[in-house]
Amino acid sequence: MKIEDKKELMKQIRDEVLDLKKSPLYKFRTENHYFPVIGEGSHNAKIMFIGEAPGRNEAKTGKPFCGSAGKILDELLENAGIKREDVYIGNILKDRPQQNRDPLPNEIKIYGPFLDRQINIIQPKVIATLGRYSMDYIMRKFGLESQLLPIGQMHGKVFDAKAEYGDVKIAVLYHPAVAIYNNKTKDTLKEDFMILKNFI
Ligand code: URA
Repeated sequence: MKIEDKKELMKQIRDEVLDLKKSPLYKFRTENHYFPVIGEGSHNAKIMFIGEAPGRNEAKTGKPFCGSAGKILDELLENAGIKREDVYIGNILKDRPQQNRDPLPNEIKIYGPFLDRQINIIQPKVIATLGRYSMDYIMRKFGLESQLLPIGQMHGKVFDAKAEYGDVKIAVLYHPAVAIYNNKTKDTLKEDFMILKNFI
């Protein structure tokens, strides 16, 4: 797919999400003058990171992972020798849930199809899931639910899957936010991120 076509398809997603009145998070967004967070990065990225949902900083700016979890993500990328502008970073939910609570099943149902479309636009070689909601969504989407275990037993593993556009690998990672107050998990995350080096 041509890069201009990718850009256009992403714009369509943005416009649809902007007007997503059926979402239970729409009112919270508009009342707070928040932005939806569609995603950011290269539309030709080999690696696509998928987080959970925007937090306050993200909703205020429209950019994914720009708060404290973002700082950790930047550190992890740098440590693995991966440039942020070479990858694509998105989330399952495009709007911030109140009090940063966990995504609800009906919210995942509403926003999931947008993520599915983004995956088919970017056509990454690797989908790196950040946190258990993202792991769960992606593993199920690719029919790998029988291999799902608690994230403590899944992180750092890579799974082979078939996307509509071809082969894709799924790399399961902890959410960077777990390392904000825990240096030990940061070391684990650093180690796990090294598996991504093989794909750049
Ligand atoms: N946490 C996420 O899962 N996504 C963001 O964009 C920011 C924090």
